[in-house]
Amino acid sequence: MATIRKAVFPVAGLGTRFLPATKASPKEMMPVVDKPLIQYAADEAVAAGIDQLVFITGRSKRSIEDHFDKAYELEAELKEAGKDKLLEIVRNVLPAPASCIYVRQAEALGLGHAVLCAKPVIGNEPFVVLLADDLIRSSTKGVVEQMTEVHARYGCSVLSVQEVPREETHKYGIVEVEKGRNGELRVISIVEKPAPADAPSNLAVVGRYLLTPRIFDKLEQTREGAGGEIQLTDGIYDLLQDEHVIAHPFEGKRYDCGSKLGYLEATVEFGLAHPELGERFSAYLRAFRE
Ligand code: UTP
Repeated sequence: MATIRKAVFPVAGLGTRFLPATKASPKEMMPVVDKPLIQYAADEAVAAGIDQLVFITGRSKRSIEDHFDKAYELEAELKEAGKDKLLEIVRNVLPAPASCIYVRQAEALGLGHAVLCAKPVIGNEPFVVLLADDLIRSSTKGVVEQMTEVHARYGCSVLSVQEVPREETHKYGIVEVEKGRNGELRVISIVEKPAPADAPSNLAVVGRYLLTPRIFDKLEQTREGAGGEIQLTDGIYDLLQDEHVIAHPFEGKRYDCGSKLGYLEATVEFGLAHPELGERFSAYLRAFRE
């Protein structure tokens, strides 16, 4: 079974739900406590053994490149000032041996199109896609690692899924599944943003995908779908006609940081769990409620 070495991070969306914060910088650079969303996602991928990070960027990509680049001046100043702990933090933004590749998506034509832009650097191997605005905190191993284990067992594409309230199906790709011989969930069908009445289930795909390279052939044929965008979901629907796809109900709590409420929830919960701030922040919240 091929090891998964490459991860794709589509970061070229317009982030309209977060304007004006996302006017000049991508939403993936918004921090939750002290790390930008994109770094949580990169850390999750690297923890699963991935060493090539492929960013699909659009306008205002500079901050992401700068974030993962070496910061010579900053490092020199921290070293001079004897701030070793901070120096370590800055140096470890991109853990060795990972390296970054940037591919430009000239127009935000949809997530499916963004993933297709990665084809020249992915080649003929399975890879993962992470949407950094879905921030996931797992108590054991990260979701990408969970998915690579499922892939190692079944050798096919894997989608991370989560139950959502029926009335929210119109926000997600929704899968229809059946149980396989070992209790695994085989995807029979997938549809993008169905109205609650049309949704085949309430099992939603969230921002982690492990895909076989066959997806690129499918995406090349995919036409505009929901919202006039080239949808990854439609490419996966076509993939299903040729290959098995498994749905993985992951262990972990997901925060939809593409929405203001989800972002605030993540900020509070990551703040409470923060090793240096947690206690004081908790005391502050208690006092605030009184
Ligand atoms: P979203 O559906 O969240 O869209 O994209 P968006 O533009 O980022 O945000 P809103 O809805 O306008 O607020 C899901 C993911 O796909 C990427 C986004 O950056 C995000 O990570 N994406 C989307 C692209 O890279 N290119 C696209 O053309 C569309």
